[in-house]
Amino acid sequence: MGEVESAGLLETKYSRRKFIKGVIAAGATASSAGYFIGGSGLLGAQAVPGAAERLITLTINGQQRRVDVLPNETLAMTLRYRLNLTGTKLGCDRAECGACTVLVDGVSQYGCSMLTNQVRGSSITTIEGLENPDTGELSPVQQAVIDEGGFQCAFCAPGFIMSMTAMVNENPNPTRAEAAHALSGNLCRCGDYDKILNCAMRAAELARSV
Ligand code: FES
Ligand code: FES
Repeated sequence: MGEVESAGLLETKYSRRKFIKGVIAAGATASSAGYFIGGSGLLGAQAVPGAAERLITLTINGQQRRVDVLPNETLAMTLRYRLNLTGTKLGCDRAECGACTVLVDGVSQYGCSMLTNQVRGSSITTIEGLENPDTGELSPVQQAVIDEGGFQCAFCAPGFIMSMTAMVNENPNPTRAEAAHALSGNLCRCGDYDKILNCAMRAAELARSV
């Protein structure tokens, strides 16, 4: 391989690594759903005649957040379009892809399939809440994804990372088959499953050493 070609490859790898790190640490702002937040509410949400927004308090990433929500508003919508926690992605918006996965009381759940009003009183964790808030240190799962260079486009990454987090908390010593089973509720359109499983196994290894 020529010097220029190898320099180009390095540049590509470096840029991709930086991109993935950015997605993991903060969550990219891209969305596949055509929702927008207007001056006074969510445009694109199903309008229910007579439905009014109500101010509620949620516990998200260890913080109390006051937010106006509609009765039929999903958690994923509230997180993304009311609270600007855009690390939670919307893919199918119908409980099929896992892009919207968050932890509710430590259990992985599809944010697109829960009403926000259902999770009042629960502790919600999004990908923005995984790193150490004092030091900025990444969680074992986030670090594992960096180590393994996981994910191609990384749209599915936040959802997988949340499912991996639930997995290592529940079973820090999984077999590869057990990891695959634990992540079976998440889909990757790029088909990057082998690398994603490498990330999961590395995440378990790092979690065991903490
Ligand atoms: S966006 Fe929730 S499962 Fe696909
Ligand atoms: S890496 Fe592209 S959807 Fe999973």
